[in-house]
Amino acid sequence: MKKLLTLLLLSLLLTACGAKNEPFQPGMDTDGGGMMQRHHAPIPAEYAGLTNPIPADETSLERGAALYATNCASCHGDGGMGDGPAGSALDPAPAPVAHTSQMMADDYLYWRISEGGAPFGSSMPAWKDILDEQARWDLVNYMRALGLGTVAPAHGSGGEAYDPAAQAAQQAEMLAQAVKQGIITQEEADTFAFVHNAAEQYRMDHPEIMNSGGSASEREAAILSALVKAGTITQAQADAFTDIHNRLGASGLMP
Ligand code: HEC
Repeated sequence: MKKLLTLLLLSLLLTACGAKNEPFQPGMDTDGGGMMQRHHAPIPAEYAGLTNPIPADETSLERGAALYATNCASCHGDGGMGDGPAGSALDPAPAPVAHTSQMMADDYLYWRISEGGAPFGSSMPAWKDILDEQARWDLVNYMRALGLGTVAPAHGSGGEAYDPAAQAAQQAEMLAQAVKQGIITQEEADTFAFVHNAAEQYRMDHPEIMNSGGSASEREAAILSALVKAGTITQAQADAFTDIHNRLGASGLMP
C-alpha cells in the first residue's frame, strides 16, 4: 500500500511538468511552453469560478465513460494519456488529460471542453453546442477518475492506460535532461522534485484547494506559502522552486 502510494505520489510529482523531448511524453506538445501557457491563461469570466455540480458517482462515471469513448478517446487515448491514434499527428498534441485533470480546477477543464482549442490555435474541438452541461461535467469526473485509477480505461480507440510509474520515469528523465543541458544543477533538480512532491501531497490532502478560485499561478503560490507556513519546505526552497520551474518552462523541456 505504501509502495502504491509512493508511486502515485511520484506520478503526480511533476504533473504539468513532464518531459517534452520525444519519445518520452506522447501527450506533450512541441511548441515550447504551450501547455504551461494554456494552464496559466486567464479563464473567461463566463467560466471562471464554476464548480462541478455533478457528483462523481457511479452513474456520472458511467455516462462519462460512454461520452469519452465516443468523443474523446480517439485523440486523448483510452487511458487519457494523450496518445489516441487520431492525435499522433497533431501539434500541439492532445493533452494527457488523465494527468493534467488532477491539477487543474473544474472551471479550467469545463472551459476547455466547452470552447476547445480556438483561443490557442489547437485542434481541440469545442463541445458546448454538441454536449449538454451535464455531459461536459460528467467528462470532467471521468477524466479525473482515469488519472486516479478509480475507473478502468475502456479498450476501444487505443492508447496506454494511465501508468504512474511510466509517468514518474518520464519526469525523472526530464529533470536529468535539464541537468545534462546545464539548465539546472543536480541540486536544483532535487529541490524541484522535493517541493513538487510536497505540493502534490498538499493537493491530495486539501482537495478543496483545486476549486478555491483564482488562477493556476495564484493556486500554486498559495500552496507554496502553505507549505512554508507548515514548515514542510523553507521559503528559500519555495523561491528556488518558482525560479527553477520558470527556467524549465523557458527551456522548452517542460511544456
Ligand atoms: C481532434 C482531437 C481531439 C478530440 C476529439 C478531443 N480533444 Fe481534447 N484536446 C486536443 C488537443 C490537441 C488538446 C491540446 C491543445 C489544447 O489544450 O487546446 C486538447 C486539450 C484538451 C483539454 C485541456 C487539458 C489541459 O491540460 O490543458 C481538455 C480538458 C480536453 N482536451 C478534453 C477533451 C474531451 C473531454 C474531449 C471529448 C469530449 C476531447 N478533449 C476531445 C484534441 C482533441
